[in-house]
Amino acid sequence: MRKKIIAANWKMNMTQSEAADFVATFLLEIGESTEVEVVILPPFTAIAAVNGALDQAQHIKVGAQNMHWERSGAFTGEISPAMLRDLFVRYVVLGHSERRTLFGETDEIVNRKVRAAHEAMLRPIVCVGETLEQRERGDVEKVLGTQLRGGLARLGAKELHETVIAYEPVWAIGTGKTATAEQAQEAHAFIRRTLGEISDDATADKIRIQYGGSVKPDNARTLMTQPDIDGALVGGASLDPRSFAQIVQGAQEE
Ligand code: PGA
Repeated sequence: MRKKIIAANWKMNMTQSEAADFVATFLLEIGESTEVEVVILPPFTAIAAVNGALDQAQHIKVGAQNMHWERSGAFTGEISPAMLRDLFVRYVVLGHSERRTLFGETDEIVNRKVRAAHEAMLRPIVCVGETLEQRERGDVEKVLGTQLRGGLARLGAKELHETVIAYEPVWAIGTGKTATAEQAQEAHAFIRRTLGEISDDATADKIRIQYGGSVKPDNARTLMTQPDIDGALVGGASLDPRSFAQIVQGAQEE
């Protein structure tokens, strides 16, 4: 049984005080324990503030939205895996479509980061997804297959098991257009089959695959009922503590 994982991708939003206010309200909404794993992904500058506000709330984990693959050195403006560990970060999002399209990240770069994350005992959330043009051309499986095989190259079964995949169709991110539950399930089932080819079926069966792209309280539950959807990566709706709490609660009921 895969434990669902719901993550709040704040992107380039939230000052330290806004982050602390969010956590205070969110904790009141969701209470002291959750059946699903909850991860907050603040910008680097608000990670410490989120940790401080979470205090004893061990049921909520903190992650980062990106990192560099090297341990240290002359990489002005970059953040290393060790620096994230130093901030008690457990998860790191890698290969988000905004990083791929706006910052030129290739599958090879994603793979370097994924391997560096595992070396540092961080769990990567690896994003994959097709553009609308690629979907209309009938290339969904080709695109997902290439991103998965490239981004996850040279990982062992244990590392794969500790990797989370986020299926985020680019056309659904920030647009208000969600994939239907059937479209998402179809892509997730394909991703799981591909993971089975990359490793083996038993490992693929344990890997959690999140859906991302305009997830809101009113569509989260239906998405979560699909057999291969194991959680959500939430952007816009995660900026409001009440709507993010509703998404978490909706996932718990499934
Ligand atoms: P969205 O973003 O929920 O605002 O569509 C999702 C994401 O980019 O992770």
